Amino acid sequence: MTTLKSWIVASLLLVSVNSASVDETFLSTLRSPRSFYAQASPSRNKTCVALSHNDPLTDDASNILSAIEDCNNGGHVIFADKLTYTIASPLNLTNLNAVDLDIQGTLSFTDNITYWVDNAFDLVYQNATSFFALGGQDVHVYGAGEVHGNGQTWWDAYPGNKKLKRPVLFAVVGLDGGSVSQIKLRNSPFWHNIVMESKNVIYSGLDFFSTSNNGNFEKNTDGWDIYRSDNILIENSTITNGDDCVSFKPNSTNVLVQNLYCNGTHGISVGSLGQYPERVDYVENILVRNITMENSSEGARIKVWPDAYSEKSEALTGGGGRGLVRNVTYDGMRLTNVDYGITITQCYGQDDEEECFKHPSKLNITDVTFRNIRGRTNRVFSPIVGHLVCSSPYTCSGILAEDVDIRTINGSNLVTCRNLDTESLGGLNCTEWSKGYNPA
Ligand SMILES: *[C@@H]1O[C@H](CO)[C@@H](O)[C@H](O)[C@H]1NC(C)=O
Ligand SMILES: *[C@@H]1O[C@H](CO)[C@@H](O)[C@H](O)[C@H]1NC(C)=O
Ligand SMILES: *[C@@H]1O[C@H](CO)[C@@H](O)[C@H](O)[C@H]1NC(C)=O
Ligand SMILES: *[C@@H]1O[C@H](CO)[C@@H](O)[C@H](O)[C@H]1NC(C)=O
Ligand SMILES: *[C@@H]1O[C@H](CO)[C@@H](O)[C@H](O)[C@H]1NC(C)=O
Ligand SMILES: *[C@@H]1O[C@H](CO)[C@@H](O)[C@H](O)[C@H]1NC(C)=O
Ligand SMILES: *[C@@H]1O[C@H](CO)[C@@H](O)[C@H](O)[C@H]1NC(C)=O
Ligand SMILES: *[C@@H]1O[C@H](CO)[C@@H](O)[C@H](O)[C@H]1NC(C)=O
Ligand SMILES: *[C@@H]1O[C@H](CO)[C@@H](O)[C@H](O)[C@H]1NC(C)=O
Ligand SMILES: *[C@@H]1O[C@H](CO)[C@@H](O)[C@H](O)[C@H]1NC(C)=O
Ligand SMILES: *[C@@H]1O[C@H](CO)[C@@H](O)[C@H](O)[C@H]1NC(C)=O
Ligand SMILES: *[C@@H]1O[C@H](CO)[C@@H](O)[C@H](O)[C@H]1NC(C)=O
Repeated sequence: MTTLKSWIVASLLLVSVNSASVDETFLSTLRSPRSFYAQASPSRNKTCVALSHNDPLTDDASNILSAIEDCNNGGHVIFADKLTYTIASPLNLTNLNAVDLDIQGTLSFTDNITYWVDNAFDLVYQNATSFFALGGQDVHVYGAGEVHGNGQTWWDAYPGNKKLKRPVLFAVVGLDGGSVSQIKLRNSPFWHNIVMESKNVIYSGLDFFSTSNNGNFEKNTDGWDIYRSDNILIENSTITNGDDCVSFKPNSTNVLVQNLYCNGTHGISVGSLGQYPERVDYVENILVRNITMENSSEGARIKVWPDAYSEKSEALTGGGGRGLVRNVTYDGMRLTNVDYGITITQCYGQDDEEECFKHPSKLNITDVTFRNIRGRTNRVFSPIVGHLVCSSPYTCSGILAEDVDIRTINGSNLVTCRNLDTESLGGLNCTEWSKGYNPA
């Protein structure tokens, strides 16, 4: 879109000219080109431009809802370039159908903690909440704009209230078919994305950056959490945050993750699983390939709770859940400055391994491959570079390593291997010596 056009639109929006009264031929010239994955769905035949007060104190939620309502079922909604849409109330967008959301400007969520604690959507799982929930079918989000979570206020509040329920920045709930691409996510209060109870969803070409500007850590800012979802693709993205780059939570199945640059993260993690005794958690058919992992606590990780209750922290307690991790492959990971390069723990939440071994996990791990993983770890667990600890000889099977060469900055390559068949570990330099799983 030309600068001149975007200024014309900005002016129209600021005097609150409803896009319905503007010629469709003109409006359609304001659209961003459809993203690669959006092109697979039918073209949209109506354009709606969301109005904005362009003012950090005035809520634009109702403008956004009315533009989306106008263009649902076959339209293209524009969030105009150069404008900030302030969102100060929750948006229930779970009934979308065949719509493109073209984010050219900035969507900014207010940081009124008092308000959001009472009004954010409750996602129930792990006390997560969200500013909005996007679902339905055939929904494509793109446009080179930004979604800003004003997370600093939330990160600053967390140390004083560890039970504070913080919102996920971008929540996809009950979506069948759609994509999110090209946009930037900034300063997420909690996880950047959750995709839950969804299928056939693609994330591509995204850029996340959430780092604190003071001593309060950007806590729990996972890149993606996948929960009760099937057939998900995550690719071609850059993530700088302070927690998992991608996390496969209970019932993540058929997921491909490829071509990511993860910086400052906690690795690409299956789990934690088995946290709740009454639940059965499956994570199956996961392929993670071509990942660059820098300044991270972990590279490739699987974390499962043993069969005994423990309290890892005030807000994270559990153990005893059942289920299965099956067919997980990490193929191609370059590591720089990570604490552990590869990790399996079936003792999550229980820091005493001997105590853990008395309560073997009810959640088996089978057919896991670590292939073509190389690079350098830092001093944190030196001389150990990896941690593979199952809770009994019977709860892990088919754990393979091929072409794995991870070394500390001093060149050592020891890997803790307990309760698993070292024959299939492709010459990893196994030791019984354990420095424990990484609490980070
Ligand atoms: C616009 O698209 C919708 C959904 O794809 C379709 O139902 C409708 O008939 C189309 N309208 C026109 C005027 O083409
Ligand atoms: C969102 O709206 C749908 C109806 O479109 C409703 O069924 C659902 O309960 C609402 N979700 C929340 C969290 O309010
Ligand atoms: C924050 O939200 C609370 C509760 O809704 C409200 O009373 C208060 O005025 C809001 N504060 C600001 C600065 O908007
Ligand atoms: C959720 O919050 C409640 C109350 O603050 C707390 O008891 C519980 O442990 C939390 N659950 C998780 C999974 O963090
Ligand atoms: C994703 O990245 C790969 C490798 O760089 C590239 O071949 C592919 O075209 C990209 N996909 C999209 C949709 O841009
Ligand atoms: C691997 O990912 C990088 C981005 O981190 C990309 O540039 C490269 O093309 C990818 N390689 C393949 C073989 O897709
Ligand atoms: C990596 O993260 C650090 C902050 O932890 C940041 O300063 C740096 O710019 C990031 N690097 C890239 C390439 O994004
Ligand atoms: C996972 O899927 C299984 C089988 O469909 C189901 O029994 C179980 O309750 C699900 N678990 C969760 C946490 O949703
Ligand atoms: C293992 O997972 C991969 C990736 O999702 C899939 O292509 C393959 O068919 C799965 N294999 C089995 C035996 O389920
Ligand atoms: C992250 O890693 C890059 C490359 O190894 C390095 O240049 C940079 O200083 C690191 N940043 C931090 C914050 O450690
Ligand atoms: C886990 O493995 C044990 C021992 O091999 C077996 O008895 C049990 O049935 C397995 N459980 C699942 C859920 O596969
Ligand atoms: C295994 O680690 C020990 C202790 O660091 C070292 O002496 C030995 O050379 C290593 N073996 C291999 C095969 O790398």
